[in-house]
Amino acid sequence: MSKKQTLRGLVEASDESLQEAAEILLRGGLVAFPTETVYGLGANAHSEEAVRGIFAAKGRPAYNPLIVHVRDIAAAKQLVTSWPDEATKLAELFWPGPLTMVLPKQAIVPDLVTAGLETVALRVPSHPVAQALLAAAGIPLAAPSANRSMGVSPTTAQHVQNSLGSRIDLILDGGSTDVGIESIVIDLSGKLARILRPGSISAAQIESVIGPVTTAGGASGSLPRSSPGMLDRHYAPNAALELFDQNEQEQILKRLKKARSKGEKPGAIIWSGADVKDAETIQLAADPIGYARTIYAALHTLDDLGCNLILVEALPPTPEWSALRDRLKRATTA
Ligand code: TXA
Ligand code: MG
Repeated sequence: MSKKQTLRGLVEASDESLQEAAEILLRGGLVAFPTETVYGLGANAHSEEAVRGIFAAKGRPAYNPLIVHVRDIAAAKQLVTSWPDEATKLAELFWPGPLTMVLPKQAIVPDLVTAGLETVALRVPSHPVAQALLAAAGIPLAAPSANRSMGVSPTTAQHVQNSLGSRIDLILDGGSTDVGIESIVIDLSGKLARILRPGSISAAQIESVIGPVTTAGGASGSLPRSSPGMLDRHYAPNAALELFDQNEQEQILKRLKKARSKGEKPGAIIWSGADVKDAETIQLAADPIGYARTIYAALHTLDDLGCNLILVEALPPTPEWSALRDRLKRATTA
């Protein structure tokens, strides 16, 4: 009985569990950990074998590249062949934090990580548990959001447990994530910087640091698919999502009545105080920061309650809400 008992499943982040997590990662295993945005599913980014485990556990298509998490700017530079001034400026301001930069990759980054692309996506997370894990393991960690492919990203350890619990080695519990939506992804590998995925850091904030940026058209736009993982439908719960406008009170009532008559169990997510009767209704904050923090948890909750229809109140058309409008649009596109 002298052998130390191996931790498995969901554990509180602590010195001991972090050490165990680092050992698992160095052995090629999979560890879910909190970041400030959403929980990530980590593996040794230098090991193609370990990274293959991520794709298998998530059911993620091999054409969708992963973000590599590193401790600091110095560690990021070791994985790329060029580091433009824009990267320095953005990293100095936003790292550690919810910013991912795409840059030309070094050959040491396995092709599996980048889905065969010549570029790699890099991020320095600010969550203390993520930082401690990167320090303890001493390797870069490839880590997508810790959910089954196409599902809603996890913002608690329990969300990870529910979708991936039996498929991975360890889940480090660090509480609810703060930002609540995934990092902004910005491509700095071309002539003009391009936002591939919006996030809590706005385009205006980026432009104030590095000047004009373009925005990717996405998979449904006329531009070629630039970020292979930006599938139209993404971040979606099991339930069907429908957007509604708060002025459409009558339509909502009709919609709910119809749903009930078909035996569907409806849920609703609102922010303005819209009056939605006869549905499991979750009221979120009326500001984008507060809304982002709990929107995924709300979707998980309604899924868990067995709602098969979720009416989501449309968001304001202003720039502060654009990343959230993007996420809801992806969740509602069938
Ligand atoms: O906040 C986040 O970014 C979270 C936490 C865990 O860090 N991670 C996350 O990873 O959202 P994931 O795999 O769910 O999304 C990564 C996105 C995908 O849209 C992918 O296509 C894009 O980043 N991406 C990764 N590498 C890329 C590359 N070389 N070029 C273009 N896009 C890339
Ligand atoms: Mg994801």
